[in-house]
Amino acid sequence: MNQDLFTIADVPKQDSQTVIARCRELASISDMSGGTFRPFLSPAMKRCYEVVGAWMKAAGMHVRIDAAGNLRAIRHGGNRVLILGSHLDTVRDAGGFDGILGVILAIALVENLDHPLPFDIEIIGFSEEEGVRFSIPFIGSRALVGTLDEQTVCTIAPAIREFGLDPAQIPAAKLTKLPLGFLEFHIEQGPILESAGESVGIVDAIAGQTRATVKFTGSANHAGTTPMHLRRDALAGAAQWISAVEFLASTTPHLVATNGKIELQPNVGNVIAAEVALSLDVRHSDDNVRENACAALRESGNQIAEQRKLKLSWTETLQQKSVPLDQSLTRALAAVAPAGTRRMTSGAGHDAMILAPYIPSAMLFLRSPGGISHHPAENVLPEDVDLALSIGRRFIESMREF
Ligand code: GLV
Ligand code: MN
Ligand code: MN
Repeated sequence: MNQDLFTIADVPKQDSQTVIARCRELASISDMSGGTFRPFLSPAMKRCYEVVGAWMKAAGMHVRIDAAGNLRAIRHGGNRVLILGSHLDTVRDAGGFDGILGVILAIALVENLDHPLPFDIEIIGFSEEEGVRFSIPFIGSRALVGTLDEQTVCTIAPAIREFGLDPAQIPAAKLTKLPLGFLEFHIEQGPILESAGESVGIVDAIAGQTRATVKFTGSANHAGTTPMHLRRDALAGAAQWISAVEFLASTTPHLVATNGKIELQPNVGNVIAAEVALSLDVRHSDDNVRENACAALRESGNQIAEQRKLKLSWTETLQQKSVPLDQSLTRALAAVAPAGTRRMTSGAGHDAMILAPYIPSAMLFLRSPGGISHHPAENVLPEDVDLALSIGRRFIESMREF
């Protein structure tokens, strides 16, 4: 453990307390009772934007919502722009820090700036990173770099209109000002920093991911009268395939694969399932390993479907290659972080992976107590938030020379 990791903080304790209290306040703004859930452009997102927007305004920033639903605040200063931020949407029954922390930390940094800078700072609360509402992740960040495809825009347009925005204006959400770079603070969402006793880490690269909806179609029939050998049971086929997914991931080094969502028809206890739609999420830092795994899983799905006289359909909703972050910006981040700060690969996806091919991007991870994320028990430690604020301050100052 590097002692210097704990000696750099030069931020009043008050700041981390405010940051954590604000994240917890936002966790109570939710579309579900008894937990946190804010999908893309939901009623809770509207309330969240009002609260976060008010903090941004109080920090002296000019606030707007672009047509992709991103909450954006500018502090003017010069011809180039340093972008800070992360996402404000959440998974269902989420914790209070995934994404949100990156936005709230950025606001605290701007609040504490008491002098002009020769560049703009823009804070972006991205509207949709998780992909919950439409099974399409990264809508907000893709709009910022102009890579939202027509089909996605068609799918999301009614939600955008319902929120009071104009989907025809999505192209205007694209960043036009010359970017200095994008810095995203984010919880690690895993156990590495905690198990090493370290507060923060610098992300070198973000693992690629494939997401798909995989549908098995059979035939509904009576549970009491249909002999086993005459059934076309979509759920039994899907269950067999889920085991194949878990087996492949467990036996391929560093591969992770998840079936996290299931929808079945008719979903009745005494009826054989006619149709099962499963989500598939496959990740690896090596794109070849991920692509080969997806091909193998598709093949095993086809074999299972054939054996069981089912139909299989496979619809990919995301093919995201693994992304290296910007070396120069990452060097600038390392230069203001404690000596020996760990470099790491992110297994989770982040808005930075969408921005990185277009805007120099860097990420700082904060330790996740218990390695827990996408869960109400998600947390951060005040001393780690202090350290991140301290690094953020120095980073912003260092951008004068970048
Ligand atoms: C985003 O949280 C992801 O699924 O990686
Ligand atoms: Mn997440
Ligand atoms: Mn996140």
